[in-house]
Amino acid sequence: MKINVERGNLLASQADTIIVNLFEGVTIPGGATGAVDSALDGAISELIAGGDFSGKAGEIAVLYPRGAINARRVLITGLGKQEKFDLEGVRHAAATAVKRARDLNASHVATIVHGAGIAGLPVKDAAQATAEGTLLALHRYPAQKQKEEAEHDIDGLSIIEFDADKIPAIEEGVAVAQALAAGVTLARDLVNMPANQATPTFMADTAQTIADEHGLNSFVGGRKWAREQNLGAFLAVAQGAGEKPKFIILEHNSNQLEMDTIVLVGKGITFDTGGISLKPVAGMGDMKGDMGGAAAVLGAMKVIADLDLPLHVVGITPCTENMPDADAYRPADVITASNGKTIEIISTDAEGRMILADALVYAQRYNPKAVIDLATLTGACIVALGQGIAAGVFSNEDDLSKKLVAAGEETSERLWPLPLWDVYRKAIDTDVADMKNSGGRMGGVATSAIFLREFTDYNWAHLDIAGVAMLEKAAKPYNQNGATGFGVRLLVELLRNW
Ligand code: BES
Ligand code: MN
Ligand code: ZN
Repeated sequence: MKINVERGNLLASQADTIIVNLFEGVTIPGGATGAVDSALDGAISELIAGGDFSGKAGEIAVLYPRGAINARRVLITGLGKQEKFDLEGVRHAAATAVKRARDLNASHVATIVHGAGIAGLPVKDAAQATAEGTLLALHRYPAQKQKEEAEHDIDGLSIIEFDADKIPAIEEGVAVAQALAAGVTLARDLVNMPANQATPTFMADTAQTIADEHGLNSFVGGRKWAREQNLGAFLAVAQGAGEKPKFIILEHNSNQLEMDTIVLVGKGITFDTGGISLKPVAGMGDMKGDMGGAAAVLGAMKVIADLDLPLHVVGITPCTENMPDADAYRPADVITASNGKTIEIISTDAEGRMILADALVYAQRYNPKAVIDLATLTGACIVALGQGIAAGVFSNEDDLSKKLVAAGEETSERLWPLPLWDVYRKAIDTDVADMKNSGGRMGGVATSAIFLREFTDYNWAHLDIAGVAMLEKAAKPYNQNGATGFGVRLLVELLRNW
């Protein structure tokens, strides 16, 4: 959906529903909320005085002006305590309000920018967050939409600002939010799709569409090409797959030699059965989302191209299923990766690090300033940090790690640093190869990262997104149950500030 930015008076808006806001503890509303209060003869002040509305985060009040202004309903969204307010508070307030408006069958909704008034957030950032919260909250997964056909969608959205001087900044912020929402939506849809639809071939077709729409370079390698490239670790996982594996590359600004090169790598296991080391029945269906890293990279590449960021960015997403099969790789197999290192297979369920190994080696040829991989890599990361809280970040370069953590705070796609200490290396020692593909249960998140380090020769960060890519129950008002699209906003934030 497109958001229109309009200069004008919210009170005069032709929208049927207008959204204003209130901080917790305010008794006499100011700004746009104050203007609406006056027009409604103190109706908002009365709600506050009577204790019917306090402005807590997540709280919504609905008022019916009955002709006092154009709109037929007014939504007041609680911003929470002013001391605690930030851009995430803006996203939450916008999301909560617009979802209520949709539930009330609103057809045209007008809102002010949340947080740019007394809260004093930079107007461009506040506008971006308002639009982001709004668009991400309204997104529905297509299949869900079909099922809920009777459910209503909002037709039009406007952000209204009285001060003409602020309009350009608001337009800029909204444009960024529109681009981001499209990228996040793409990533979410790919993760939510079942594995018989979101196959490696479908991932490749999606990448091709992004390339065509945004003028990116693209390349898709199949089994034959991967053999020529000696991608032994990728091919080992793909060996048992009925679906054709695809090693996908998208490139933004491929001919701009003076620009810094950043490579983004995403784990693209379109379904993880565990292979011969078969997973248990319970929860296996969730493994349709084991390409959450690849989905985030494709989504981010779409936004990077749309915003035309002045960087040379390469997105690499190795995609395959991990299936048990007569041809499947097995425990105790010894596999040679594309850098010549040998790997003893302990568990065929530690497949993500295998396909990432060859992708990380492949990244080296671009002579990158940084390589960042995203992967739903370990259950151990979920055990360590919890579900829907933060992704783990490992890096061999402090500055890159700090920048990523900062981007995570800004976007509220949080990252928590975990150690890449050399002592973890002995957990993957073996007599029969350079390393084994599992270090066992203890410290499983760190030993998976130490495995990946064997394939990196540059500034690198690894994000384990297993606990945040997909959530049974949405943890934030602008997310739905299922896929979050985690990583898209984070990566774009990092690269916009590179
Ligand atoms: N895709 C899984 C990790 C995962 C688990 C992601 C739950 C999201 C939710 C990964 O391929 C895997 O199976 N990891 C194993 C590694 C072990 C065999 C060393 C794990 O975490 O148990
Ligand atoms: Mn696995
Ligand atoms: Zn996996």
